[in-house]
Amino acid sequence: MEQKDRPPSQLMINLIKERHAIRDFVTQRQVSDELLFHIIEAGGYAPSAENQQPWRIIIVRDREKQKRIGEIAVERTIELFGRITPRQELERRLDYVRAIPSRERTIDWLITGRRFEYIKGEPETDGAPVLLVLAVEATHVGNSQPTLRGTGGVYGWSSYRHAIIAGSMLMQNMMLAATALGLGSCVSSVQLDHFDDVREISEMLEIPHPHWTPILCLALGYAKFPRVRGPPRQPPEEITFVDKWGENWQPKRESGK
Ligand SMILES: Cc1cc2nc3c(=O)[nH]c(=O)nc-3n(C[C@H](O)[C@H](O)[C@H](O)COP(=O)(O)O)c2cc1C
Repeated sequence: MEQKDRPPSQLMINLIKERHAIRDFVTQRQVSDELLFHIIEAGGYAPSAENQQPWRIIIVRDREKQKRIGEIAVERTIELFGRITPRQELERRLDYVRAIPSRERTIDWLITGRRFEYIKGEPETDGAPVLLVLAVEATHVGNSQPTLRGTGGVYGWSSYRHAIIAGSMLMQNMMLAATALGLGSCVSSVQLDHFDDVREISEMLEIPHPHWTPILCLALGYAKFPRVRGPPRQPPEEITFVDKWGENWQPKRESGK
């Protein structure tokens, strides 16, 4: 079937499957505010408990700030994969990479932190030209949007859990919008997994932490190389049970595909 003949729903599914994490960018090619606007606007259409919209996004274009966030990512990656995780475990996780040289290179990039250099935004390592930092409202009770008071959230309980769930949905919307607009992206958390890093990045960006807490970053830019395949996914029947845990689903499918 031609792409144009497909029903719109299929196009959406294709877009979801075509999004892959991009970690090599054309650093010099900036992402316009126009595109960022569309991406962030699409993000804001994500659902949130009681429509509380417990999110804020900081566009980081400042070279020094972005570099420091990337440095934290690289340092933590070296700590996590270079020191804490046994090499056999890395090999096990990456055994889907059939070509041994590629697998070895990926392991080397994890151990040395090279894999996450892109966050720094430097041309020498094909860094992302812009970074979005997503903060969610961790402690507020009620609607975080003054203009929407009365339409939701006034009597609600805003929990950190709800904020993280909603923030994740906003992030996914932004990644899909970026894909649709021809941009590459990679969501990352390694630079925000440790409390000390959350504090440092919050202070650097003047995020009123801990009321608002940064949870994820999104590197954005034009991909240096097209990526047609990503890591494999478990098929639906492997991740789905019927009526009780462990009762495997055997879907009846008309298409047979
Ligand atoms: C919560 C979360 C945290 C992630 N953290 C990082 C990270 O710190 N650095 C990174 O390069 N990728 C990170 N990723 C991206 C995943 O590695 C990637 O999405 C996954 O390997 C699947 O690949 P795909 O996105 O190409 O399908 C993260 C993804 C999620 C959802």
